[in-house]
Amino acid sequence: MGITVAVTGPTGEIGMSAVAALEALDEVDEIIGMARRPFEPAEHGWSKTSYQQGDILDRQAVEELVARADVVVHLAFIIMGSREESARINLRGTRNVFEATVAAARPQRLVYTSSVAAYGYHSDNPVPITEDVAARGSPEHYYSEQKAACEAALAEITDGTTLQVYVLRPCIVAGPKAPALADVMPWNQLPGPVKRVTQALPLLKPPFPDPGTPLQLVHHDDVATAIALAATTSAPPGAYNIAGDGVVSMSDVARELGARPVRVPHATVSVASGVVARLPFVPSILEWLHIGRTSVVMDTTKARTQLGWQPKYSTADTLSELAASLR
Ligand SMILES: NC(=O)c1ccc[n+]([C@@H]2O[C@H](COP(=O)([O-])OP(=O)(O)OC[C@H]3O[C@@H](n4cnc5c(N)ncnc54)[C@H](OP(=O)(O)O)[C@@H]3O)[C@@H](O)[C@H]2O)c1
Repeated sequence: MGITVAVTGPTGEIGMSAVAALEALDEVDEIIGMARRPFEPAEHGWSKTSYQQGDILDRQAVEELVARADVVVHLAFIIMGSREESARINLRGTRNVFEATVAAARPQRLVYTSSVAAYGYHSDNPVPITEDVAARGSPEHYYSEQKAACEAALAEITDGTTLQVYVLRPCIVAGPKAPALADVMPWNQLPGPVKRVTQALPLLKPPFPDPGTPLQLVHHDDVATAIALAATTSAPPGAYNIAGDGVVSMSDVARELGARPVRVPHATVSVASGVVARLPFVPSILEWLHIGRTSVVMDTTKARTQLGWQPKYSTADTLSELAASLR
């Protein structure tokens, strides 16, 4: 008999690919997904998956979900949002999932997708960064702060229990089914006709600053494979960095996604980041500026050698796949 996997956030960019990867595993009998929107798994050709509408802030709904599972995969999170709203859902909701999983009799394993952002943007972090470096987060970026806080809560809640805990730390996820990286680019929010004009004439393409910070990307299907492996592997529990091979520059991202790259001194971003960090009230979207401040290129040796993870797409392939899907 195979296992039942509960997935929070199956409707998201990673969730859709993760459920598809779990569906393909012989050792998985059943998948139960939970998120807030209405959703019909059969419309995606999934035969093992059922769905219940629910909010991770609703402790009873979470308890009912995890009580039926051998493995809990926690993906539900607010990535782009206000600092206050994201904190409310991410910190309270994630704690609900962790506590309910520990309290339930059936789950043996918990897989949590943290993020590279959990490490924080610290100049004394090694490059590339390995999993033994503390996930300190950076308080000036709400997402980084919350990812570090969730990892700390996970360690505290599961301490002394027999639950097998796998923490995946992906870099930015992209690909045809994960367009968020392109969607957040300001020129992609222009009305259709205006955007078409700017794209037709190279000089009208919006400028995009490149301070020289290298970026890693990972394809949604490769993250899904990592989640499916973590749900079923006999590799040791713990944290695993997840990123495609190689890096791209912000100029590569700009060119592929329809902007005009402009090299700027690295000091520009450091100064801007320092100013934004000191301002008392900053729109949450501006806090993403901090990710350009420091290189957080990850070493993925552990995922490859211990988890047996072999990404199919490099960072550059992932960017090309995303760009091709937009044309
Ligand atoms: N995308 C990336 O680049 C990236 C990189 C590293 C790590 N991660 C992490 O991977 C996880 C999944 O990311 P993603 O890219 O798939 O995010 P996403 O596309 O924004 O999807 C978020 C998912 O969470 C669900 N959700 C949000 N609030 C919820 C709530 N209160 N109750 C129940 N479900 C809720 C959403 O469904 P509803 O809106 O229907 O509720 C959706 O299914 C997150 O923890 C994220 O931080 C993502």
